[in-house]
Amino acid sequence: MHAISNIQIYLDRMAKPLAEKLKIAHYVPEHVDTILDVGCADGVVSAALADMFPNAQVVGIDLNEEFIKRAKEQWGDKKNLRFECVYLRELLARPARYDVVVFCSVLHEFYSYGEGISSVLKALSDAHEVLRPGGRLLIRDMILRGYTKEANLYCLSITEKIKAKEESHFIKDFEEQFGKLDTLYTLNHYLLKYWYKENWERESKEHYTPVTFEQYEAIFSLLGMKEQINHSYTIPFLEQKWKDDFNLTEDELSTLRSTGILVAEKV
Ligand SMILES: C[S@@+](CC[C@H](N)C(=O)[O-])C[C@H]1O[C@@H](n2cnc3c(N)ncnc32)[C@H](O)[C@@H]1O
Repeated sequence: MHAISNIQIYLDRMAKPLAEKLKIAHYVPEHVDTILDVGCADGVVSAALADMFPNAQVVGIDLNEEFIKRAKEQWGDKKNLRFECVYLRELLARPARYDVVVFCSVLHEFYSYGEGISSVLKALSDAHEVLRPGGRLLIRDMILRGYTKEANLYCLSITEKIKAKEESHFIKDFEEQFGKLDTLYTLNHYLLKYWYKENWERESKEHYTPVTFEQYEAIFSLLGMKEQINHSYTIPFLEQKWKDDFNLTEDELSTLRSTGILVAEKV
């Protein structure tokens, strides 16, 4: 995996929107026995889930040893929570099956640091396999709808506002990698990315929005899963930030919906 130049900044950034991330908890069944949190980092979301569902056993897994070490140090006292540094794939050979598998802000990293869509496909089919029948897959990530790749409503005015404020080399870096800021797709992506300049070397290359809602739905359909929720919105904090930083109007903001929640059930 690409080195994270400042681990603490990365982890603080992950932990900040915790309340926002925990919207996924609405989709965890009340009487859940087991939850698997894939890509748990230092375990902030896993620990919150363990508190919210005290009768459930929560397992957080990640490939980053340092993160798992920190998770164990920080949350080691919780009886219904454990962490392991292990590939999701390795769990297939074990007998444990889960009621809920969570991917919170993770699948875009599987895509970026793995083998693109093939890594996302594999992760979701592995998750399907480790779920019990009737179990739920919860995905929360930066997800755009397919139409945004063509749509350009308000793009000209938004791009002008961004270019007036941003140093041009950041935009150049982005456009070289992901294409011109002339569709809702690339604009949304840039607006999600521009404020992470501390780890720019890594962040600028990471694809934040690689898989559309429609592509996730195609994967659910291939796996024979039943989609239960498909929700997209903008985090209020981000809307306010874009207003403050670029003076975006309500009309312009109304075109930007970049946080996605998907819930699918194993039949
Ligand atoms: C952006 S963080 C999200 C952390 C946490 N889920 C949260 O929402 O706060 C992404 C995490 O996914 C992990 N990750 C990336 N690719 C992975 C893979 N193939 N298998 C397991 N974990 C992975 C990274 O190590 C990192 O901890």
